[in-house]
Amino acid sequence: MKRILFLLALSLITIPVFSQNSIRVGNDGTSWNIVTHSTVYQLKVENDEVRMVNYGNKSLMEKTGRPLGAEIPVRGGYVSSAPLLEVVFPDGVRDIELEYKTYEIVNTDGYETLKITQCDKYYPLEVISYITSIPEYDLIEKWIEVRNSGRRGNIKIENLLSGSVFLPKDAYELTHYAGVWGYEFIPQTTLLTPGTKTIQVKDFKSYGSSSFLVRPEGETDQYNGKVWFGSIKYSGNWRIDFEKSFNGPVQIAGGMNYWDQELILKPGSSFTTPRIVFGYTEQGTEGVTHRLTSYIREKLLPASHREKIRPVLYNSWYATTFDVNEEHQLALAKVAKELGVEMFVIDDGWFKGRVNDKAGLGDWTVDTNKFPNGLQPMIEKINALGLDFGIWIEPEMVNPNSDLYRAHPDWVFHFPNRQRHEGRNQLILNLAREDVYQYLYQSFHKLLKENNIQFIKWDMNKAMTDPGFPSAPADEQRAVRIKYMENLYRLVETLRKEFPHVWFENCSSGGGRIDMAMNSRFDFNWASDNTDPVDRIFIQDSYLTLFPANTMISWVTHEDWHRQNHSLEYKFDVCMSGVLGVGYDITKWTDTEKNIAKEKIARYKEIRETVQTGTPYRLVSPYGNNRSIHQFVNKNQSESIVFVYNLAEYPNNGIPENKRSPIIRLRGLLPNVHYAIEGLEGTYSGDYLMKTGIEIPLRGAFRSRILKVSKQ
Ligand code: GLA
Repeated sequence: MKRILFLLALSLITIPVFSQNSIRVGNDGTSWNIVTHSTVYQLKVENDEVRMVNYGNKSLMEKTGRPLGAEIPVRGGYVSSAPLLEVVFPDGVRDIELEYKTYEIVNTDGYETLKITQCDKYYPLEVISYITSIPEYDLIEKWIEVRNSGRRGNIKIENLLSGSVFLPKDAYELTHYAGVWGYEFIPQTTLLTPGTKTIQVKDFKSYGSSSFLVRPEGETDQYNGKVWFGSIKYSGNWRIDFEKSFNGPVQIAGGMNYWDQELILKPGSSFTTPRIVFGYTEQGTEGVTHRLTSYIREKLLPASHREKIRPVLYNSWYATTFDVNEEHQLALAKVAKELGVEMFVIDDGWFKGRVNDKAGLGDWTVDTNKFPNGLQPMIEKINALGLDFGIWIEPEMVNPNSDLYRAHPDWVFHFPNRQRHEGRNQLILNLAREDVYQYLYQSFHKLLKENNIQFIKWDMNKAMTDPGFPSAPADEQRAVRIKYMENLYRLVETLRKEFPHVWFENCSSGGGRIDMAMNSRFDFNWASDNTDPVDRIFIQDSYLTLFPANTMISWVTHEDWHRQNHSLEYKFDVCMSGVLGVGYDITKWTDTEKNIAKEKIARYKEIRETVQTGTPYRLVSPYGNNRSIHQFVNKNQSESIVFVYNLAEYPNNGIPENKRSPIIRLRGLLPNVHYAIEGLEGTYSGDYLMKTGIEIPLRGAFRSRILKVSKQ
């Protein structure tokens, strides 16, 4: 029967997918190898249950080991690993007993996917697990669908993660990225000791990341060594547990965070989790970066804009804050055009009543005190200058001081008899409500329809509090966060479909909501509200480890968080390793400042294709060194751009880095080709540059240099 099903499944899939042959089935029909370019994930049925055997280098296929754990650990029986699924059946039974039923190979997004169905031995609960192989990036993706196949009685889901993997017994170090406002993605490395290390989000705000790296203790080389890594494709509350047993494997289990959440599965209904991505490489952190960033750049980013070179931006926030008006915006746009900017974005402050952060959110019509003619006449003037126009919105929020809130005080999340916790004087709209969804959809549809807007900056500034939805049926009340996220994705997707030419930037008080799910719906991220160049070097170092440079908007501004008065040249160079923007009040700039900007923007346009579409290499990390060096290599390896940023200088041998060689070895070049390096004499073979290396001629604190390496 299983064999017949398998043959049937094979006959349904298209030939190109089959030829990749990344899901390999054992002769017995009850064991599977999920194969990528250089990894394998192994499963087999043992004692009627699907178990994970091993995950790592492809050579594991030579022999079958003993399973490390259940593919879907559940609450039930011995509690030896972190459960992915915890339910309560209608009669109050809380344990699950799963039994293997069938498998199929299906096609998802063009990739072969193993679909395994297990069922509870007694209750009408189907658990379908999916594992996709994404061979070219050495990634697998897992997700789970649960179904109440009964005719009567609800099943309550108390926990449902997306997937887990077990790593063989060893000592492991975890690196993850944590942060706060202004200091996003700060890497944290810790030894996993027996017990559970959890990283999670409980309030929709994540200044860190769900991306993680786990490697055998001591194997921390940038370019070599085993790394298991992953990330969750979800922007709501997520959670990952790294659970080390005293004498056995380490389990990594992640997905939606069921903290204060439950889901009721009615008879006949099902629920599908978001996906968790896992990867394995033996090329250290660089191997992780290459796999994650090229997957995002080549497959995840919205298809309409994926291949497009990103424009140079101007954003008015730091120049004006809320004090925007037509005359000043036009004056800014005129100078922006002179400098070489291509997209002019007006930030917060343009809509009704928005004189400061105490009012206006929710009322998405133009403030006629500031723009008496409306937006479109101003946009036309900006377009006439030769600039595209973009605008800031914060759809998910409302100020109590707004017409919207006065009309619909029940449209925000709240509990009766409890305080409505404001943050930045605002509350969160309950996007789980269909009327809220429709209001937002109509508002932004109208805005985009009536105005020639080419770019949306979508902000979200308050953490989730008071997640009450008092008028909802009792059994839906704790699922509001799930519904909210569904509607958020739906809103972005609907607007993008209707206005396919518009670029979308994702912002959440800086980098408070950056993840792969956002990456598949937004073209860019605003990595941080901290635009101080030195802090940015650190934030960008982590960002570029996890995400592609063409998603990282970076503006040159007057912000100087450490009173260092850095040069304009240094600031531009820092922002040029992503998508360059300017945020100063440029109407006040001297000719000298304008000339620097003109030159830098022209230079950026010359190098941006390699930066935005090239392969990234991190040569020197600012953590533990007093400089940061990044390199990008274009596809055919004929051009490379090297960014060198010096940080503070210390007396000779004052820090360990000063004792080391100043020679830098480049990466990713063709060994037998000769390259010239701008500003340096002669040519060098790729082999020489990669094996012997060069000393980069740059001295002095807070100096920078951008070197173009070109094939001769
Ligand atoms: C947030 C964003 C900023 C800016 C302001 C506007 O803080 O992160 O970039 O848009 O809101 O109010």
